[in-house]
Amino acid sequence: MSILIKNGRIITASDDYIADIYIEGETISTIGKDLKVAPGKTIDASGKLLFPGGIDPHVHLDMPFMGAFSSDDHETGTLAALYGGTTMVIDYAIQTRGDSLHAALETWKGRAEGKAYGDYSFHIAVTDYNENVKAELKDIIIKEGITSFKTFMAYKGALMIDDKQMITIMNEVKKYGGLVAVHATNGDIIDYLVEKHKSEGNLSPWYHYLSQPEITESEATGRFVDLAYLSGVNSYVVHMTCEGALNKVREATARNQKVLVETCPQYLLLDASLYKKGFEAAKWVMSPPLREKKDQETLWAGIKQGLIQTVGTDHCPFMWKDKLKGEDDFTKIPNGGPGLEHRIELLYSEGVKKDRISINKLIEVTSTNIAKIFGLFPQKGTIAVGSDADIVIFDPEEKHTISVDTHHHRCDYSAYEGWEVIGKTKTVLLRGEVAIENNNVKIKKGPGKFINRHRPCGI
Ligand code: URP
Ligand code: ZN
Ligand code: ZN
Repeated sequence: MSILIKNGRIITASDDYIADIYIEGETISTIGKDLKVAPGKTIDASGKLLFPGGIDPHVHLDMPFMGAFSSDDHETGTLAALYGGTTMVIDYAIQTRGDSLHAALETWKGRAEGKAYGDYSFHIAVTDYNENVKAELKDIIIKEGITSFKTFMAYKGALMIDDKQMITIMNEVKKYGGLVAVHATNGDIIDYLVEKHKSEGNLSPWYHYLSQPEITESEATGRFVDLAYLSGVNSYVVHMTCEGALNKVREATARNQKVLVETCPQYLLLDASLYKKGFEAAKWVMSPPLREKKDQETLWAGIKQGLIQTVGTDHCPFMWKDKLKGEDDFTKIPNGGPGLEHRIELLYSEGVKKDRISINKLIEVTSTNIAKIFGLFPQKGTIAVGSDADIVIFDPEEKHTISVDTHHHRCDYSAYEGWEVIGKTKTVLLRGEVAIENNNVKIKKGPGKFINRHRPCGI
């Protein structure tokens, strides 16, 4: 089927102009003024913005974690993503200790296949590095189309690796041009603080926050940055929250090092005062925790300065019944919260409309840079001839209120309940098919495809 989108304002990371887009099959075939074509369907996009489909580089769907499963699976999560203008997600396939990376990939592919509404790929989280895993890395990068590996410097006893494992992984991944990503907080210090608070009978969510002070993140980020420098590997810090951590990356630029950084809407928009809300604070128990106003300012500035290249969500929702497992002990509250659907609308409303970032920057950090870093560009991440026709038709003026009553996450609370935002995703095309039309889903579950990724193409 061919589709003509007429008169939309096309926004990419570098452009802003009004034109028609002609789509044949899954890709964009022509862009121009007053195109003379005979489409199967015409969409009038006058007055609307046209964005390349958003790509969320950090989600956890159907993930077993801390005694529960994240409540959105690949069906509900990718559908919520589409409603918010995100046409592709990169999820985390987590290696089970004692098992192979290939086994993790097969498990997670099995969770997504036939269910996902939108396109997907995986990073593989290496939690148990050994000679067998070393031998797998080349194959995973070259043959399986997975070019990024996640490491954890925290979650001691579960996911955390040590520095020797880290540098060995980095050296091996570098050989094949891949990328090492990190959850950068100091697991030993966190462990010490958790034990201290528990021994003093301090068990409320407030002590989750106090167990992970800024120093735990800045120290680990600095250590990761140094190890990346030593190895020369492509490096990426996920869900950065604070000034101290960003300054480690900033300092590294003085020795001509480039470390890529991701932050998330919750760290740009929410702050640690929420941890004073008694047990309701469990809604925002995530790692790292929410920080201070000064950190939000640093993160917005970091985006403008190009020190932060991507905004993902770290979408990892849990139902309230699962959060309640930690009612008497904050260490039993599954870490994570919902956010996938609202990333682009929140950044448009709080970022572009409030003059914190330009509209081109919005596209850079929610789509283009992610496509470049994770080896999807130019198939994804832009509106160009030959690219996948993943297109978001966005009303820049429509006001709405985020709420558990209207969101599409499978989660019985919203992290942004009552937030009023300007700007709404109206219609979404996924590889040339209308997936959402005027806020209504038009496709059945399953069209989402696993997308083979290349090595980072540099930004
Ligand atoms: O609290 C969080 N962020 N949960 C998801 C796992 C992770 O650390 O990214
Ligand atoms: Zn993490
Ligand atoms: Zn995460």
